[in-house]
Amino acid sequence: MRIIILGILILTSVLLSSDTTVATQLPITVSQNGYSGLTVAISDSISENVALIQKLKDWITAASRVLYKASKYQLYYKDVTIVLPKTWSIQSSYKKISGLKFSRAHVRIDDEENPVVGKVPYVFGQTECGKQGQYMHLTTYLLFAGELAGFGEIGDVFIHEWGHLRWGLFDEYASFEEAGLESPSAFYLDDGTWKPTRCTEEVTGRNINMFTGAPCTVTEDGIPEKDCVFIADKDSSATASLMGQQNVLKMEEFCDTDESSTGSKLRHNSQAANNQNIKCNSRSAWEVMREHDDFKGNTPGSPSFDTTPDFTIEVETDQRICLLLDISGSMQKNNRNSKMYTAASNFLLNMVADGTSVGVATFNNIGRVVHEMLTISSQSDRQQLVTSLPTTTGGTTSIGAGLLTCITALNSSSEGLEGSMIYLVTDGEESRAPYIADVQPVITTSGVIVNTLALGNESDTQLGGISRASGGQSFYYSEDEDSTVLTDAFAAAVADTSSDMLIQIESKSFSLSSTQSFEHSITIDATVGRDTILQITSSESNDIEISVTGPDQTIHTEINSTFGITTVKIPNIAQSGSYKVSVTTASNSMIPGVLNVQSKVRVPGETTARLSVWLSDDTHVYGSDSTTVVYVAVLKGMAPVLKCDVTASLEGYDASTVQLHDNGIGSDSRENDGIYSAYVFSNNFKRNGRHTLKISGQNTNNRAEILKSKEKSNTFPYYSGLTTELVGNFQRVILSSEISVTNYTATQLTDNIKPAKITTLKLKSVQLKGDKLQIILLWKAIGDDLDVGTASEYDFRISDSFSKIKQQPEQCTKLTNNVPIPKLAGSTEQYLVTIDDDSLTKYIVVRAIDDVGSKGDYSNIVSVSKLTDPSWTSEAINTVNLTETFVSGSLALAILLVMMILGLCLKVRSSKTNDQKKLINEKKNQNQKPGKRGSSNKHHYRYEYKNRNYIV
Ligand SMILES: *[C@@H]1O[C@H](CO)[C@@H](O)[C@H](O)[C@H]1NC(C)=O
Ligand SMILES: *[C@@H]1O[C@H](CO)[C@@H](O)[C@H](O)[C@H]1NC(C)=O
Ligand SMILES: *[C@@H]1O[C@H](CO)[C@@H](O)[C@H](O)[C@H]1NC(C)=O
Ligand SMILES: *[C@@H]1O[C@H](CO)[C@@H](O)[C@H](O)[C@H]1NC(C)=O
Repeated sequence: MRIIILGILILTSVLLSSDTTVATQLPITVSQNGYSGLTVAISDSISENVALIQKLKDWITAASRVLYKASKYQLYYKDVTIVLPKTWSIQSSYKKISGLKFSRAHVRIDDEENPVVGKVPYVFGQTECGKQGQYMHLTTYLLFAGELAGFGEIGDVFIHEWGHLRWGLFDEYASFEEAGLESPSAFYLDDGTWKPTRCTEEVTGRNINMFTGAPCTVTEDGIPEKDCVFIADKDSSATASLMGQQNVLKMEEFCDTDESSTGSKLRHNSQAANNQNIKCNSRSAWEVMREHDDFKGNTPGSPSFDTTPDFTIEVETDQRICLLLDISGSMQKNNRNSKMYTAASNFLLNMVADGTSVGVATFNNIGRVVHEMLTISSQSDRQQLVTSLPTTTGGTTSIGAGLLTCITALNSSSEGLEGSMIYLVTDGEESRAPYIADVQPVITTSGVIVNTLALGNESDTQLGGISRASGGQSFYYSEDEDSTVLTDAFAAAVADTSSDMLIQIESKSFSLSSTQSFEHSITIDATVGRDTILQITSSESNDIEISVTGPDQTIHTEINSTFGITTVKIPNIAQSGSYKVSVTTASNSMIPGVLNVQSKVRVPGETTARLSVWLSDDTHVYGSDSTTVVYVAVLKGMAPVLKCDVTASLEGYDASTVQLHDNGIGSDSRENDGIYSAYVFSNNFKRNGRHTLKISGQNTNNRAEILKSKEKSNTFPYYSGLTTELVGNFQRVILSSEISVTNYTATQLTDNIKPAKITTLKLKSVQLKGDKLQIILLWKAIGDDLDVGTASEYDFRISDSFSKIKQQPEQCTKLTNNVPIPKLAGSTEQYLVTIDDDSLTKYIVVRAIDDVGSKGDYSNIVSVSKLTDPSWTSEAINTVNLTETFVSGSLALAILLVMMILGLCLKVRSSKTNDQKKLINEKKNQNQKPGKRGSSNKHHYRYEYKNRNYIV
C-alpha cells in the first residue's frame, strides 16, 4: 500500500482570556442563530491578490454550512467582514476603515509562519477549557492548497479552529505537548491493548510507525514505540468529531457525552489521552459548548436554511484619533491637568505615527472641539496640535457630551467612522447628561474604538465597559508618585495603530536629590534602534540634568526639555548594547521622576521580540481563594521566545510582583509556547478599585531562545528540523488593561489556595512481573498554592471502574506504598507502583495536598492493563510500504517536535504498491530492534510527497 499521510492538523496553541471577550478582540454577537461581527483580516505582508478574497468567501461560506449542521442548526455566520491591508489598491466598492483592524481580527491571514507549526492552521492563545482564544492564524498556502494537502475539507478545518477559538474546545487527537515527559499519549492502555486516541471510537484507521509505515510495536518498557501514530482512514464512516479526526471525509459533528444514551456515532471517548479530556475534565465538546452563551436561548432553525454569509470588504486606511480630554473642575486636584497636559504633549510630539489624523476635543458639562482633525506630516503639525491642548479647568462632567463631540469631529471625513479611535482621559464620575450609556449605541453602531485612561480612583466605573464593548482598552493611573502609567498608557493606545509601532523598552520611576543621583542601565537590542527616545518626566524638570552614555562611550547630548519632559534623542540608528542613564539635580529635596525609553525596529518590517498581555478576568473579587491569571505572550515574529524573564508588577505598589512561567503547569496551559502565565492572588492587592499591571519581559543573561526550522521549505509539510537560536539580550515593558478589585478587607487572608490540578500524569512503563504489573508513572510537580511552591503530599487513587474514578475518586482505593514526597513545582516526578494483575483495566489519578490540608483536584486519568493484544508485540511487518526517498534523521526529530507542540492527526489514503519487502529488508539492515529508533544520524525514510501525498 502506498501511504499517504495526509495531513495534519490543526492545531491549537496557546492562550486565553476572559469569558466572553478578549480585551482587544472585536465584538461578536449572536442573534437569530447568526453570528455578526466575525472579522477576517489580511496581513499587509501579503501582496495584492484578488483571488484571495473569493477564496476566503468560499471558505467561510463552507464553514457556515458546516457550523450550522454541527451546531444542530443553532449557529451560522450571518455577516462577515474581510479586511484588506492598506497596501492593497482601493476599489470603490470597498468600505474604508481607519486604523489597523488586523490586530483585533478573529482570523488573521498571514504568510509569516510560526516556525514551529509551519503552514498548519492554529489558534493562538487558548488557555482554559471553555475560554476564548486570541485569534486564528491561516496561511494563503492553506487557503489555496490545504484541502489537497490533506488538512481536511475547508469548512471542517475552519470549524475545528472555531471550536478552539470561540468555545475553548481542545483537540481530541493525540497530543504530545508535555515535551518533558516522554511517554506518548497517542495511545492509552485499555482492555489488554493500546487504543488510539480518537473521538469517536468509530473512527477507523491503523497504528503505524510514522517513519517506516510498519505496524507499531511496544518498547521494552511496554509502551508504544515513540514514533507510533494512529492514521485515520480518510473514508472512515465516522461522523464525529470535528475536534478529533476532522480530516476524515464524513466528519460533521461534535462528540456528545460518554453516556450510553448517546449513540456510538456521537459518543465521546472520555478515556482517550487527549487535551479535551485533560483540560475539560473528560467532558465532551457538546458538554462544554452547551455552557457557552452562544448556545443559550437558541431555537434551532430549519435544516434547509440558507447559511451563506453576507460579506463586507473593508480596506484599512491611516488611523484617525480624537484625543478627548477632561477639563472639569476636579482636574485641578493632584495636578491632574498639568500631568495630562504633559502626557498629551508627549503623545502628540513623540508617539503618534506620521500619517495619523489627530483631532483634540475637551469636555466638562459640554464638549468642544479645540483642534479639528489634522493629518500629521511634520513636526510643526505636532506643535500646532500641542498648542491647542487645554490649560484651564472648571465645570461638571458629561462624558457622553465629550464622546459625541469626538464622534462629530471624526465623522468630518468621507471615510466614515469605523475603526477611528477616541482616546478619553478623565478623572470624573459623570454628573450630567448625556451619559456614557446614552451614547453607547452610537459608539457601537459607528464602530469607533474607545480607549480610556482613568486618572485617580474616582473616575467612572463604566469606562472599562465602554472600552471593552468597542474593542478598546482601559487603563488606570493611580496617581502614586512612583507610577509610570501616565506615559505608558498613552504609548499603549497607539501601539497597534501602525505596523511600524513604537516599542517600549523601559519604564521606571525613581526619585533623586542633590545627594542622590539616579543611575540606570538599559539594553537597546540589535533588532531595534530607530527613533530611539529616552525621556524623563518630572514636575521639576527644569532642575535636572541627564547624561546618556552609549555602548561605545558616546555621550548623547541632544537634549530638549519642554512641557515637563526632558527628551534625549539618539540620532540615526542607536548602536545596540547597554546604555547608561545618569540623572542628577541641584535640588536639595527629593524629586520624583519617571524614565521611559522607546524605539522602533531597526528596519521597518523586521521582526523583534514583542510582548502582549491579557487577563483571565477584568475584575478580582478579593477572597482567600480568589485568583486572576495574567498571560503574557513573548513572540519574535510568530516564533515563541523561550526562557525569557517575565514579571507582572502591580503598578503604584511596593513589591507586589509575580513571576510568570511557561512550564505547562497550573495557570500555564502549554509548555514552551511563548505564552507565560501566573496566578495573581488576593494578597497581592491592598485596596479596592482599579489596578494596572505593568509587564516586564527581559533577557539579560543571553539565555532566551526561539524555536525555528533549520531550513525553510516551500512545500508543506516538510520540516528540515527545528533548532533553537539565541535571541540576544533585550528588554520590553507593556501595560495590561486595568483590573478592578472588589470586596477588599484588611483582615489577614487564611491560606485557602489549594494545589493546582495535575494534568501531566502519564505512563512511562508497564511491565508484567509474574502476576503483578509494575508500572512507572510520570508527572510534573505542581505547587502548594496552585503552581507556586512545594506541595506536601500526593494522594493516588486506583479503581477498575472508569466512571467511579471520574465521579468519586476519593471513594477509590488509595495507593500508599512508596509514594514520593512532592518536589518543587515544575519538577519531574516519578512513581513506581506494583499492582496485582487481575486482567481488568485499572484507572489511576493523583492529587496534591498542601501543608494546611487543602486538597487539589484529581488529575487526568491514566489507565493500565496487561497487554494481551498480539498485534502490538509481533514483529510481523506486512501491511505497509513506502517509497524510498532518503532523508536524514532530522526530519524525524522535526516531526516529533512539531507533534509535541501541536498534536497530530494524520490520515492515510491507501493504495497498494509492491515494494514493501524491500523496505522491510532495509529496515532490518539498519539493525534496529523493533520499537527502537536508530540514532539521529541514521537514515530514515520519508513518505513521498507528490500529488496528494503528504506527510505531516
Ligand atoms: C456621519 O456623517 C454622515 C454624513 O455626513 C451622517 O449621515 C452620519 O449620521 C454621521 N454619523 C454620526 C454617528 O454622526
Ligand atoms: C481614593 O484614594 C484615596 C487616597 O488614595 C482614598 O482616600 C479614597 O478613599 C479612595 N476612594 C475610593 C472611592 O476608593
Ligand atoms: C526643543 O523642542 C522645541 C519644541 O518641541 C523645539 O521648538 C526646539 O526646536 C527644540 N530644540 C532642540 C534643540 O531640538
Ligand atoms: C462582595 O460584597 C458584597 C457586598 O458586601 C456581597 O453582596 C457580595 O456577595 C460579595 N461578593 C462575593 C463574591 O463575595
